[in-house]
Amino acid sequence: MSALSWHHFIDIESLSSDTIQQLLEKAKTYINTENMSIQPNHECLHKVVCLAFFEPSTRTRMTFELAAKHLGATTIAFDAGSSAIKKGETLKDTVETLLAMGVHALVVRDKQEGLPIEMAAQAGDRACIINAGDGCRAHPSQALLDMMTIQHYKNTFDNLSIAICGDIQHSRVARSQILALQKLGVKDIRCVAPAGFLPKDKNDAVASAGVNMETDPTVGLKDADVIITLRTQKERMQEIDCPDDQQFFKEYGLTQARLSLAKPDAIVMHPGPMNRGIEISGEVADGPQSVILPQIRFGIALRMAIFSHCLG
Ligand code: NCD
Repeated sequence: MSALSWHHFIDIESLSSDTIQQLLEKAKTYINTENMSIQPNHECLHKVVCLAFFEPSTRTRMTFELAAKHLGATTIAFDAGSSAIKKGETLKDTVETLLAMGVHALVVRDKQEGLPIEMAAQAGDRACIINAGDGCRAHPSQALLDMMTIQHYKNTFDNLSIAICGDIQHSRVARSQILALQKLGVKDIRCVAPAGFLPKDKNDAVASAGVNMETDPTVGLKDADVIITLRTQKERMQEIDCPDDQQFFKEYGLTQARLSLAKPDAIVMHPGPMNRGIEISGEVADGPQSVILPQIRFGIALRMAIFSHCLG
């Protein structure tokens, strides 16, 4: 078995379209969409899942934890602040320590791009590494829960127009979403943002992915079926590159007026955390077209499918 075999969950690039479809189908079996209740079972009984988050997180960490618990797994949380890393232990040795404890899956989030790839190479087939976000590079579980949400509300990916708005340049979510949408056959993907927030680097998968880059929101939002808004990720940029929040809201914030440019049945998504009055108005976030809270519930089902795929 190669070091990066199927049982690690690292990025969208390493998943085939078929695997993505299978994960979406599997995820549907864990949720009753009539009342949005999660359907627990014991597929992962006696499996140990360790959550190692080296960056802040609310929904990703807690929904991974809930997903593991709904499948009967035991969960442990790695607290970097009170761990032996503080005493000079290397991350490699920490991973070996966790493997020695019998951890079967290590869910990792870190600001270092590529860290889950390194960890997967180290762990080999001893445990599976699940990427919960590495730097600006990839956030594959968020992308797939977003695909699940889109599929639920729009039934099909055929002929959809999808606008991703805001700080795309620093967004691992947008990178993974764009790759997933392309694997599912979506042709009309628009990145809508000021020039400074659009990916430019030719080595960036998104910059060369053939998506529309649009600086004018009235053009970018026109007749969209799905609008995905993103937070300005100040922690990933120099202060000088950060636009003024009020000015950004005035020019790009998703207000009711801008939303009315999209199709009347367009849905509004956001991976969270949301900054009301910057990338989105409170009225839109709480409005009838917003599916931001259901996205979170779909995230539990989708993460259950990932555990089932990796550990089952
Ligand atoms: C995102 C992340 O951490 O990449 N949030 C999330 O996982 N739900 C987006 C963000 O931080 O803005």
